[in-house]
Amino acid sequence: MRITCTVNGEQQQADDVWEGESLLYVLRERLGFPGSKNACEQGECGSCTVYLDGVLACSCLVAAGQAQGRDVRTVEGLASGDELSGIQQAFLEAGAVQCGFCTPGLVVATADLLRRSPSPSDDEIREALSGNLCRCTGYAKIFDAVRAAAGL
Ligand code: FES
Ligand code: FES
Repeated sequence: MRITCTVNGEQQQADDVWEGESLLYVLRERLGFPGSKNACEQGECGSCTVYLDGVLACSCLVAAGQAQGRDVRTVEGLASGDELSGIQQAFLEAGAVQCGFCTPGLVVATADLLRRSPSPSDDEIREALSGNLCRCTGYAKIFDAVRAAAGL
């Protein structure tokens, strides 16, 4: 089947999509958006987090067909060309990135948190990132990055 949707503000089209394919697969393998990562493919880790019509979603759990005609924003869409977003820069400067597999999902989740709550409490940060698993950093530097991105 053919899927058309908007990704990061531009119309995209993928042909010959199999009904069982996920939005994550289509983004990464068919449309050239490898930022969202595939770590568990079971909705457990949050590494594949994207916006779907402005709401956070695990793209590994979204059937590609469900994205038809909808608006998708990936981690690539948070940067301005080659210029990192403030959140991405904060993760870099805080040393919150090791293997990097969790980072795109954390960056998207942080963007959503700061959109809702520009000066979040530690509890709000914890809750907002609770669906994003990191196997490497122990979370302290991730928290530092979120606080820095919020200017706290
Ligand atoms: S790859 Fe989607 S939640 Fe882990
Ligand atoms: S940096 Fe490796 S999983 Fe988070």
